Amino acid sequence: MSGSRASWTAFGAGKVILLGEHAVVYGHPAVAAPLSVGVRALGRPAKTCGLVLPKGLGALQRQALAAAFERAAGACGRPPVQVRLESELPRSQGLGSSAAVSVACARLLLEVGAGGKPPLLGRVEEVAHEMECVFHGTPSGVDHTTSVRGQLIRFVKGPLVAKPRVRPLRSPTPLWLVLVLAGDRGSTKESVGSLRARTGKWPERYRRLLADIGKVADEGAKAIEAGDLEALGDVMNVNHGLLHALGLSSGRLDSVVHALREAGALGAKLSGAGGKGGVVIGLFREPRGVVARLERGGLSAFATQVAGPGVE
Ligand code: PMV
Repeated sequence: MSGSRASWTAFGAGKVILLGEHAVVYGHPAVAAPLSVGVRALGRPAKTCGLVLPKGLGALQRQALAAAFERAAGACGRPPVQVRLESELPRSQGLGSSAAVSVACARLLLEVGAGGKPPLLGRVEEVAHEMECVFHGTPSGVDHTTSVRGQLIRFVKGPLVAKPRVRPLRSPTPLWLVLVLAGDRGSTKESVGSLRARTGKWPERYRRLLADIGKVADEGAKAIEAGDLEALGDVMNVNHGLLHALGLSSGRLDSVVHALREAGALGAKLSGAGGKGGVVIGLFREPRGVVARLERGGLSAFATQVAGPGVE
């Protein structure tokens, strides 16, 4: 974060979950990486602490954002700053837009509150977690932790949710993902809630599938550290199958998964909460040409290197 006497800015990165979404809520490991795009919070001195709500939000989204900001402001001692947001992330697509908002606001409020001193990572995570609880109810914390740490991580929710177990993952090989935005979906809160209801109804079967997702997430973490992209791709395919079995995919998401595999992906899966739409990721050794080909087929895609030489 950088600042002057007149104004401050703070950044929160978006994220992509490579493996383990949903199961991570139940204490299993997940693997996630930050994106280079995200949300910027801009602050200027004011008499009181407040947020200028962005245009284009629905009533419920405005309410949630205002309540989340109030929670963070309270946790940071209400520093006298007026905050506005600039986002590069589409909302509710699985790219961690609420976590990026939370991290950018937490960083800014803490820095202003400390007279310009950069905040400790742990404090940013605590305040961002407070905001994420307003947005999502019971977040595992993987989204905002990935955003704060700024590197590919293996994440396990802690007994105290603000104290997760986090291990950075080093990849000896460039890890290239192609991300496809597969249209609108419901909220994370809804999809986590409906999975919880099914897990309550059929606990044995659902807990077994969730535990399997945790196992493949760890197999994927090992494959990343060994530079074994073929194994990682296979793990991603299996993870998608398990998410499908849990009722978290859709015809639209499955067809994008197949389009990515046909375009040469070593593995492909939905990423994030899933549902009707959202983001689908494919792993490629070499993404050049893939995005243009997918876009010619009518899909909205971009490529990003999430780990390995060049980004670590
Ligand atoms: O909101 P999304 O799409 O980034 O999904 C968050 C990941 C979940 O595992 C579904 C929820 C959580 O709290 O970890």
